Amino acid sequence: LARGVTEPDLRGRHVVVSAGGTREPLDPVRFLGNRSSGKQGYALARTAAARGARVTLVAANTTGLPDPAGVDVVQVGTAVQLREAVLKAAADADAVVMAAAVADFRPATYAAGKIKKRDGQDPEPVVLVRNPDILAEISADRARPGQVIVGFAAETDDVLANGRRKLERKGCDLLVVNEVGERKTFGSEENEAVVLGVDGSETPVPYGPKEALADTVWDLVAKRLG
Ligand code: CTP
Ligand code: CA
Repeated sequence: LARGVTEPDLRGRHVVVSAGGTREPLDPVRFLGNRSSGKQGYALARTAAARGARVTLVAANTTGLPDPAGVDVVQVGTAVQLREAVLKAAADADAVVMAAAVADFRPATYAAGKIKKRDGQDPEPVVLVRNPDILAEISADRARPGQVIVGFAAETDDVLANGRRKLERKGCDLLVVNEVGERKTFGSEENEAVVLGVDGSETPVPYGPKEALADTVWDLVAKRLG
């Protein structure tokens, strides 16, 4: 696409984007969380809307980010809530992009009252249970034939090899893999990534604004939608 020119190539399409990071509560004041800011997911929602799509943005703990204009925003907190919202929105979606950082585990129990420390007593260990794998579930059980499903993975080592394995394990069509680094990924305005396709393709996206990566993702999604 030429700079500054946006083709409405997603007009008539419904796309779902998850963004942010889930928080898994321990008690009314504490949670297990992660460092995802939600900025990449918001960039995906904005660019899809600019390309004419109807967009549902499932946002997990992204306070501080303004709702993108013309986008349906569904706020969620936990992985279980994110799953419910994504499954519901995906029912009639042409594409689903899972940019959210979903907690792999949640505390096995929730304390209805604030957990207190006691003099001379060691803390209780925190017992965790697995959260559902939303990306694997929606990939295995497509709501619509030809629905395009995209995952994201932040890796620290053997980025491409780990990404290829993850793409296969999840069963999605595209996986955006980025290396976690100092200026990159968490909270920053820029990103650098490689988009792996189940067809064996590798699309490098140079270091740049999160909108540029978002546009590359939508280019690849639009191509698969035909
Ligand atoms: N994801 C998901 N549900 C989960 C965990 C992850 O839908 N319970 C999605 C994320 O939104 C992301 C992709 O799966 O699009 C990859 O997340 P990642 O954490 O890299 O994958 P995991 O399978 O959890 O692998 P790891 O053990 O490396 O964390
Ligand atoms: Ca994980």
